[in-house]
Amino acid sequence: MKKLHLIGNLKMNLSKQELEPYFKELATVAQNTEQTVGVCVPFVYLPLAQTYLQNSKVLYGAQNMSNQISGAFTGEISASMLQDFGTQLVILGHSERRQLFGETDKMVNQKVLKALEENLTPILCVGETLQQRAEGKTKELVTQQLQAGLQGVNAANLQKMYIAYEPIWAIGTGKSASATDAEQVIDVIKQWLQQNKGATTNVLYGGSLKPSNAQELLRVPNIDGGLIGGASLNATQFADIINTQL
Ligand code: PGA
Repeated sequence: MKKLHLIGNLKMNLSKQELEPYFKELATVAQNTEQTVGVCVPFVYLPLAQTYLQNSKVLYGAQNMSNQISGAFTGEISASMLQDFGTQLVILGHSERRQLFGETDKMVNQKVLKALEENLTPILCVGETLQQRAEGKTKELVTQQLQAGLQGVNAANLQKMYIAYEPIWAIGTGKSASATDAEQVIDVIKQWLQQNKGATTNVLYGGSLKPSNAQELLRVPNIDGGLIGGASLNATQFADIINTQL
């Protein structure tokens, strides 16, 4: 059976009170599976994640970080600050960061390099809008995002990170990409990585992944796992995805 990597993205959801039982349940789920389980939490809950998850099999992470090392950057959080709380994962270049907070490919690339320097595992997100898909520009856009986001990343470093293919039209809409659509773009991603970096890495699918479509998507041979937003907010639902029978 292939090993899957299933990572939750809580976004700006759940309270401290809700997270305590959530982390406990997730730790138990991870204990009873061969799959890699992770969860990316709001910054302020990283100490709580550390308390509950550091001795578990659950990897925990942040959803963003600064492209700067330190200094006068009000409101920002650096890679080394994440390290101070035992953080292992960091989502970078999520489409919500790009679209709502103006993150550019260049900034995303700087973040990827900083994260790797601090031994964090970046999850670099790429994906097209509905319009770009309709215009037949998906392949071009995704390879552009890889080209820019992975500048200066070599084969060895690439293998220490994840790429998440998240079509923007599928995020939070309840309508995931079809297995065929996801497979086609992930093929493009893996071929590009092999040709340009001399290696590939684990590529996750993200966008309305939920228990009802998990089997169809996760059994696609080149999909190595999922980045799960809405359906990861409930530990039982997330567990159903983690325990998908392929
Ligand atoms: P979703 O979010 O599962 O709620 O569509 C996925 C993501 O944005 O990572």
